Amino acid sequence: MSDETLSNLLTENRTFAPPADLAADANVKADAYAAAAADHEGFWAEQAGRLDWAEPFTQVLDDTAAPFYKWFVGGKLNVAHNCVDRHVAAGRGDQVAIHFVGEPGDTRSITYSDLKDEVSRAANAIEELGIVAGDRVAIYMPMIPEAVVAMLACARVGATHTVVFGGFSADALASRIEDCNAKLVITADGGYRRGAPSALKPAVDAALEKIDNATTAIVENVLVVRRTGQDVAWNTDVDVWWHEVVDESSTDHRAQAFDAEHPLFVMYSSGTTGKPKGILHTTAGYLVGTAYTHHAVFDLKPETDVYWCTADVGWITGHSYIVYGPLANGVTQVLYEGTPDTPHKGRWWEIIQDYKVTLFYTAPTAIRTFMKWGRSIPDEYDLSSLRLLGSVGEPINPEAYMWYREVIGGDRCPIVDTWWQTETGMMMISPLPGVTAGKPGSAMTALPGVGADVVSEDGVPVPNGSGGYLVLTKPWPSMLRTLLGDDERFVDTYWSKYKEQGWYFAGDGAKKDDDGAIWLLGRVDDVMNVSGHRLSTTEIESALVSHPRVAEAAVVGAADETTGQAVVAYVILREGASAGATGEELVQELRNHVAKEIGAIAKPRSIMLVPELPKTRSGKIMRRLLKDVAENRTVGDTTTLADAGVMALIAEGQKTST
Ligand code: WT7
Repeated sequence: MSDETLSNLLTENRTFAPPADLAADANVKADAYAAAAADHEGFWAEQAGRLDWAEPFTQVLDDTAAPFYKWFVGGKLNVAHNCVDRHVAAGRGDQVAIHFVGEPGDTRSITYSDLKDEVSRAANAIEELGIVAGDRVAIYMPMIPEAVVAMLACARVGATHTVVFGGFSADALASRIEDCNAKLVITADGGYRRGAPSALKPAVDAALEKIDNATTAIVENVLVVRRTGQDVAWNTDVDVWWHEVVDESSTDHRAQAFDAEHPLFVMYSSGTTGKPKGILHTTAGYLVGTAYTHHAVFDLKPETDVYWCTADVGWITGHSYIVYGPLANGVTQVLYEGTPDTPHKGRWWEIIQDYKVTLFYTAPTAIRTFMKWGRSIPDEYDLSSLRLLGSVGEPINPEAYMWYREVIGGDRCPIVDTWWQTETGMMMISPLPGVTAGKPGSAMTALPGVGADVVSEDGVPVPNGSGGYLVLTKPWPSMLRTLLGDDERFVDTYWSKYKEQGWYFAGDGAKKDDDGAIWLLGRVDDVMNVSGHRLSTTEIESALVSHPRVAEAAVVGAADETTGQAVVAYVILREGASAGATGEELVQELRNHVAKEIGAIAKPRSIMLVPELPKTRSGKIMRRLLKDVAENRTVGDTTTLADAGVMALIAEGQKTST
């Protein structure tokens, strides 16, 4: 974020009090903060009462091996039973769980009874394919109900899923399949995006080839949903059609209860090194944390609300706030397959109007895109059903907040700006809609049962009005338990900086304002945030360097009006490398190469071919200076550069190329 945006943020002083009717009837009132502060474990034990336990827990929190915390020790439950079956048992089987809207216009409304049948069939089918508790299953799907069903079927049989975002490349899928040893891959022929079928199965085929599955036989089966009907290559040894095995399976499936700490899923996320981290979440604590926060922050009234979270299930937001939290709470929600501008730029608002959506959760990057398209588009639709708006993924700048509030929320809906991470599993810092007077641009304060602070380098909480590092000061139930297969990296990344205090280091800079409200200022490490998605500079640099023409690469996240940050790369070509494309053509080739290695979201916005990179005398690339160039700022302090002339060369090149 630029210095200018930053100072705008910190001089923002508007506040919006909760609407009186919402406040009067709010699920969670102000007393929750004090209750949770007085008895942290007691508070979370009470929240655990939201779930159906097959066996009660005997201890709320075991911190003897911290930071390897255990929650709800001794307890047993089944996640799918809690998200589906128990609502049917409670007589709510006819309530719609999912209103599915396909991009081409096909719709399906799936009740809790339907969902129970479908999840049971899928659970029977994957067991038939040999999946047992503890196995890993990779899910690579479009945004269709079967994606949710696949996740719940895994949870039901105790298999650990790893959902790989459908926009990721075959290579990214291959490395995840390999890292977690997935025995089964669940996918689809394709999904609809931007008005056309977009294939997925070929990427699975390529991934299996890449891991040499024919010899290594890691993946025993690929279960394929027919969504688009496009042609697919078929390997009869491994490939199985969903409609052939799932549709034929019985709707009777007895859900076995699993230990509170049974691994539920792994979500890969970029860290500061090239290798994505396999963030592990477990069973009971995760479900308690997501169910409570969804109930509290969205003020969910399951009988009357219609909820819509626009995230993809391939990200943590989709896991926690499409699948697990909302379904545990018995929500009625919208699931939309496609892009916001297909077939027209009013598609989202039309969906809100048609389904009378009351609670809406999206990302600042989307809001900024709609701002660019203009308010006349949403103004054509009846958005009066909305009563609450949420934001997630990156700081929401005050301009976007005000537009969201006025144009979408009709100046009546409170906005909850929710700060959290893949690692935290649940929202951590957010207004409570019936309690907090929100400020445009601030996530405000830690939720009840959460401890957050802003501290100095040496671990002293900063006074109001100052900035520092964001830390989480108390364990919380949905915290990540480790990084798959790498306990050491888990401890190093999150728990070593403030080891003495036992705090979790979030990797975000933050500031407390004069009232103690928290303003997030972006990552303090080499992690970028592009459209609310986390990308690592190192990962993209490695992708670039894997191209035969590239000798060296440096990547920075530069401020971008729409995507928050954008990937900007500086590349030194190999000398004497075989001839090939040059100039703009080569730049395109390199951009496509990154898309192939990681996925389209990682494609650099721009790539500059440079003769040198700015380095310190010890050889460390000074990305800070490159960021100055990318954001068109005067280049900062260059005194530690080994070669002071380098920046002039780069800045000159930048001018001629733009
Ligand atoms: C990083 C986590 C949480 C789901 C989506 C992203 C940034 C997230 C906010 C917010 C300011 C935010 C942080 C965080 N972030 N939400 N409301 N305000 N920053 O999950 O990929 O794990 O990324 O996203 O920098 O550390 P993620």
